[in-house]
Amino acid sequence: MHFTKVSKLNGEITIPGDKSISHRAIMLGALSKGTTEVSNFLQGADCLSTIDCFRRMGIDINNTANSVTIKGKGLLGLTKPSQILDVGNSGTTTRIMSGILAAQSFETSLTGDTSIQKRPMGRIIEPLSLMGASITSINNNGCAPLLIRGSKLNGIHYISKVASAQVKSAILLAGLFAEGETSVSEPSVSRNHTEIMLKYFGGSIKTLGTTATVTPNPVLTGQKVTVPGDISSAAYFIVAGLIVPNSELLIKNVGINPTRDGIIRVCQQMGGDITLLNINDKNGEKTADILVKSSELTGIEIGGSIIPTLIDELPIISVLACFAKGKTMIKDAAELKVKESNRIDVCVNNLTAMNANVKATDDGMIITGGRSLHAAVLDSKLDHRIAMSFAVAGLMADGTTTIKNSECVNISYPTFYSDLAKLHA
Ligand code: S3P
Repeated sequence: MHFTKVSKLNGEITIPGDKSISHRAIMLGALSKGTTEVSNFLQGADCLSTIDCFRRMGIDINNTANSVTIKGKGLLGLTKPSQILDVGNSGTTTRIMSGILAAQSFETSLTGDTSIQKRPMGRIIEPLSLMGASITSINNNGCAPLLIRGSKLNGIHYISKVASAQVKSAILLAGLFAEGETSVSEPSVSRNHTEIMLKYFGGSIKTLGTTATVTPNPVLTGQKVTVPGDISSAAYFIVAGLIVPNSELLIKNVGINPTRDGIIRVCQQMGGDITLLNINDKNGEKTADILVKSSELTGIEIGGSIIPTLIDELPIISVLACFAKGKTMIKDAAELKVKESNRIDVCVNNLTAMNANVKATDDGMIITGGRSLHAAVLDSKLDHRIAMSFAVAGLMADGTTTIKNSECVNISYPTFYSDLAKLHA
């Protein structure tokens, strides 16, 4: 895919559904009694992997362009899949679904693409094993393929070393099947969509500070879920609207859950002209239209408890920082190294190839703004967030930027390139 400099971006855009919430709607819909109807479901490859896995475990899921209907079979309704489950590129499917599989009365194997087979699974194997599950990394390297032998689980109070919603959700969903309460404490609060949706489906879950506690054996009941637009996908347009001169974008119906809104807070702190309009609520998730105008920006330090609220936005924030006066320091973000690619290395290499002033650190990056970007030939490394971040960078670079392996945007935002092109047509 090729990108050239644009002089302005204008218009309105409606962002596809939130990836995290779409996954959870399938999983909780499958574990509920009755029908769950999901509108604005994200038709991205990751969420389709989740649908495929649950269909293989006997759940009837009807997926039409506008809505997904899941005929739930209750907590104990899944059946043994006849083949290994394929999670594709989806870390969320792998980790959260493992929490459910750990409690089944059957054995399952799961695997995914080459990226999934390199991502750390020890972080779910450890707590789920403490609950009594038997999970083996088949190649003995702490990664998928995994062999999960379901067993009777006991509740635990787990103190997680990482602020990870995938880890938290795996444990909480396993906790639905356990003997006694299960709680998870994390270093700072990660996205809380599982907690919100579990409550919405009738589960009993309490949160206190950084700890979430679930009561087992709830009767979950199918619901109507309207998925808000994904703020992680909106982030590319928020940043593009700020850095491309003479721009004004209205990004409609975006989820602004406070555990996900770090991108807005950071952009505003850097001097970004961002207004939230039409604030609303969709099944417990806050939404807004986001109005963004080109702005003069100043570098800041980004670290600590804000990091989990913008973890997936750090690649596009690294692009943003190139257009801010002075230094932006991203720290406490070592998790970037174990995402779909090593996002510290890939961002630093790509930005350097574009003439930016950027340095990798152990847990982030230091970017000094002010240098103009030059076009380059870049590789997405099959990482959707890298492809989209550097497509935006390409709109501000002299010459023609080429992104190789650009089709990976299918993972979270299949229409990204055509949506972006409409704003500078
Ligand atoms: C997700 C949690 C985050 C995020 C991922 C989606 C989720 O991962 O990066 O894209 O839906 O729970 P971690 O739990 O590894 O931080």
